[in-house]
Amino acid sequence: MGAQLLDGKLISAEIIAEVGAKVAARVAAGRRAPALAVVLVGDDPASAVYVRNKKLACEKAGFRSLSYELPASLTETELLDLVRKLNEDPEVDGILVQLPLPKHIDADRVIETINPLKDVDGFHPYNFGRLALKMPLLRPCTPHGVMVMLEKTGVDLVGKDAVVVGASNIVGRPAALELLLARATVTVCHSKTRDLADKVRAADVVVAGVGIPNFVKGDWIKPGAIVIDVGINRLDNGKLCGDVEFDVARERASWITPVPGGVGPMTIAMLMRNTLDACLNLNP
Ligand code: GUN
Repeated sequence: MGAQLLDGKLISAEIIAEVGAKVAARVAAGRRAPALAVVLVGDDPASAVYVRNKKLACEKAGFRSLSYELPASLTETELLDLVRKLNEDPEVDGILVQLPLPKHIDADRVIETINPLKDVDGFHPYNFGRLALKMPLLRPCTPHGVMVMLEKTGVDLVGKDAVVVGASNIVGRPAALELLLARATVTVCHSKTRDLADKVRAADVVVAGVGIPNFVKGDWIKPGAIVIDVGINRLDNGKLCGDVEFDVARERASWITPVPGGVGPMTIAMLMRNTLDACLNLNP
């Protein structure tokens, strides 16, 4: 008996179609389409792929996308000036600065400069704080996508033991806040965690986001657990793989996400939802 697969491509396509229908209705009513500004600094190949996929999703949703592809030599001041210009532009609803940024640019400073109402990544301390205080506004896309996938299982998370492996600002920390909001009992594991295997063995829900191929061993998974793999790692043979040892884990789990085609497409779907929400909040 293998786990059921959570098909992120399918769920993402449904969400983008829903967003697209709302945009079409808005445009038919004489309002402008939502607009997302996507900023890419430097030539990181993985970032270039993500940004291309975000722009394609904008087309599908009927958004206007504004693209800023800037050289790695861009100064922090120049980037902050661009962000301030986009903050003030009434035709722009969402601002996404793709991470990682080149080392000479302070990413935290850039994120804090984005108008929180246009922060469609949900990374600004204002949006993060709202999530922590149980009043989410723009939610970080990847963890929000994880929650939508968990909802699709139909399993009630209240009181469940959830283990998050990884404590990054983009995945682990906000995923822990989301799971807490859903009233799970949450354990966050990181590089200094002792007895990681035992913690995972006790989990009803495992969310892995460490960026290390096959880091979570399949035989750590409790029979019947739900496994959400946020990792997207490229192996030397060119193939993509997640943070969880998929083939073994899928024999034990009740539900599992594949890589690719799991959480990845969900991040983009939630970005489209956030951009529509930002547009509606800014231009009711
Ligand atoms: N880099 C990796 N994931 C993300 C994301 O969700 N948003 C941005 N802006 N950069 C990223």
